[in-house]
Amino acid sequence: MTTIAVVGGTGQAGRAVVREAAARGHEVRVVSRRRPADLEPGAEHHAVDLLDDDAARVAGALAAAFEGADTVVDTSNGMSPAAQAVFTAGARRVVAAAERAGVGRAVILSIAGVDRSGYGYYRAHTEQERVYAGGAVPATVVRATQFHEFLDLFFGRDSRLGAWSRLGLLPYPRGCRFQTIDLRDVARALVDAAEGADPLGVVPATGPSGAPTATLGGPQTLDGRAMARAWRRAHGSRRLPVGVPLPGALGEFFRAGRNLVPDAAVGTVTYDDWLAGR
Ligand SMILES: NC(=O)c1ccc[n+]([C@@H]2O[C@H](COP(=O)([O-])OP(=O)(O)OC[C@H]3O[C@@H](n4cnc5c(N)ncnc54)[C@H](OP(=O)(O)O)[C@@H]3O)[C@@H](O)[C@H]2O)c1
Repeated sequence: MTTIAVVGGTGQAGRAVVREAAARGHEVRVVSRRRPADLEPGAEHHAVDLLDDDAARVAGALAAAFEGADTVVDTSNGMSPAAQAVFTAGARRVVAAAERAGVGRAVILSIAGVDRSGYGYYRAHTEQERVYAGGAVPATVVRATQFHEFLDLFFGRDSRLGAWSRLGLLPYPRGCRFQTIDLRDVARALVDAAEGADPLGVVPATGPSGAPTATLGGPQTLDGRAMARAWRRAHGSRRLPVGVPLPGALGEFFRAGRNLVPDAAVGTVTYDDWLAGR
């Protein structure tokens, strides 16, 4: 048993990591701004805002969270341009605190192909990889393809495209393919790396940041239309699939297939299986 601090341990991926680490018998610390009502039994929560103006308060809170920890797993996230500082200024604070606390290993969750796009969010994430690679704590980067949940950004009624659903339409990103992966597979990979093992058996190679990097993808590649049809079947929906152009650098990234890793299709749960188990 080791002690693992999960930064961002209340998010989509972080929760899965906390669950997996606890199931493997590790002691788990969860670091995030807000304490969740359904914290994993036995886990300890540390409230920290990585972007707090008060640097001393952040350092103190991280010192308490990392004291005696063997590994820090970083699954933090920030979508808006301001929040993306979690990948840069926030990561620098985490790395410095981990170093001071004598943490033995860091593992970060990143995105397959992240350095191959000019999309601002991806550039910030690429910088996060470099911050960890340049730190004194040995870091492993685990890059995953999009989670199965990713397509809900298009299909979900609560998404930004929710208005389309009221017109009976099911928008999907036109001309894009995805190799989505299940969060349980991602979590197993991250905890493997936290234990010093190869994530899902994938041997890390030196990545663009200079850190050992393992890239993992889901078990199959599907185009957006096929995924919309699968989603429709699973939800008994009559909404009509309609392709919409995904603008900007992210659209270009997906249309060029830079998100795909056919040689690393190690995920075990297909999109259909995931939909069926929802
Ligand atoms: N979505 C995908 O398809 C996909 C695919 C591959 C990789 N990834 C990567 O996986 C990582 C996790 O994504 P996710 O979707 O699981 O994220 P998420 O659900 O948005 O969770 C983000 C986590 O970070 C914490 N957080 C955010 N700002 C913080 C701050 N200022 N200080 C402290 N904690 C903060 C949040 O907790 P509080 O809000 O309580 O602070 C939460 O625990 C990201 O790096 C993402 O790029 C995502």
